[in-house]
Amino acid sequence: MLDPVRHSVKQRPDLTFKHNKSFGRHGWLRLTPAYSVKLVQDIIVDVPTNVSVLDPFSGTATTTLTAAEHGNDAVSFDINPFLIWLGNVKCRTYTTARVQRSRAAVAAAIARVPVILFRDNWRPALFNIERWWSTTTLQILAAFRAALVEQFGEPVEDQGDGLVWVAFCRLVIETSSAAFNHVSMSFSSEVTHHEIEHVVDLYSKILDLVLSSCDSPLIGAGQVVEVDAKAIPDMGRRFGLVLTSPPYPNRISYIRELRPYMYWLKFLGEAREAGEMDWTAIGGTWGIATSRLTTWSPYGQTLPDLLAETVDSIASTDTKNAHLLATYVFKYFHDMHLHLSSLPNVLEPGAEIHYIVGNSTFFGKMVDTPAILSASMQMLGYDDAASRVIRKRNSNKALFEYDVTAIWPG
Ligand SMILES: C[S@@+](CC[C@H](N)C(=O)[O-])C[C@H]1O[C@@H](n2cnc3c(N)ncnc32)[C@H](O)[C@@H]1O
Repeated sequence: MLDPVRHSVKQRPDLTFKHNKSFGRHGWLRLTPAYSVKLVQDIIVDVPTNVSVLDPFSGTATTTLTAAEHGNDAVSFDINPFLIWLGNVKCRTYTTARVQRSRAAVAAAIARVPVILFRDNWRPALFNIERWWSTTTLQILAAFRAALVEQFGEPVEDQGDGLVWVAFCRLVIETSSAAFNHVSMSFSSEVTHHEIEHVVDLYSKILDLVLSSCDSPLIGAGQVVEVDAKAIPDMGRRFGLVLTSPPYPNRISYIRELRPYMYWLKFLGEAREAGEMDWTAIGGTWGIATSRLTTWSPYGQTLPDLLAETVDSIASTDTKNAHLLATYVFKYFHDMHLHLSSLPNVLEPGAEIHYIVGNSTFFGKMVDTPAILSASMQMLGYDDAASRVIRKRNSNKALFEYDVTAIWPG
């Protein structure tokens, strides 16, 4: 039967990452699974500024930055070191003097690029790197990176010059053959050969854009810290609002899209590290994160009946990998349940929680993410667990995004 609420729901690009491009710091670097500033603003607008905000799945720190812009203090968690670094660069205060120093040092770095162009400059061990950049572009990028390191040190050491590295990330992606026409990234059929003048000009334009939007005032304080959301410790601090978008159970890996930045900035050294990181991630699926599923065993928590029914229905399809993917879905909700059971360590009594999530399908079987998460919330003692549909995800009539909400009674 036609569901009249879902039938009238539109795709709403204003509620996706696409909307963030023109929002100052939010538009510095795109990440497809990022959600929209507008979505966060719509929820946060009525929240008093003395309420501390938590996002346990930071990504590009959309929640924390929006909350700080609104005047709230906010913290977010992530396990990906690049995203932790990026989130903190986005949430920092930049003085005019600091920005001027960065500009002068970048000018000095640019002057060095032709001088060191033919040296054996360090290059990332990115698999099939020639699919991303032509040999000449790669040579220019490697020299560019080496010249920036001479001035600013390695980005992982973070000496407060993150803005120049954010601009370098944009340069790396804009000179690559990566195409973002789909939910996840793909490659154009050909790599483009860029001249050194073009690369320098492009970097200068990107840097101008970044530097001109870093002086927008942040009223509240925002910070991203390394915490595994499956096991949140008591931090001596509590939050009155949780507003987050966790990974969805859809096998999209953030590492896949973040690889070029992570390798170029040395947050990743080799492919194996990416698999290890995705194994810690909820819903992770990169490399060993999938192969390890075959030997994984759960912690023995009591989980919602609806999850067991969903997993059984996927496993019973007569399809190759049915069992593997049934385990994937089971582990996703198992890990989200662990997350929700450790979350009260940092919640104030009466805290409101919002989880923006999508449903998914495996071999034609519906994974009703909002219903399973609501059931977990109820089992764990949260009050008023409910969900509302907020947008249609794509042309597939069955896929939607929801806001799953509840209150922690304390
Ligand atoms: C959908 S993205 C969040 C996007 C974010 N709302 C934004 O606007 O950019 C989910 C994030 O959760 C992080 N994540 C996955 N598993 C995690 C875990 N166990 N602990 C903390 N963060 C985790 C991923 O690294 C990813 O950055």
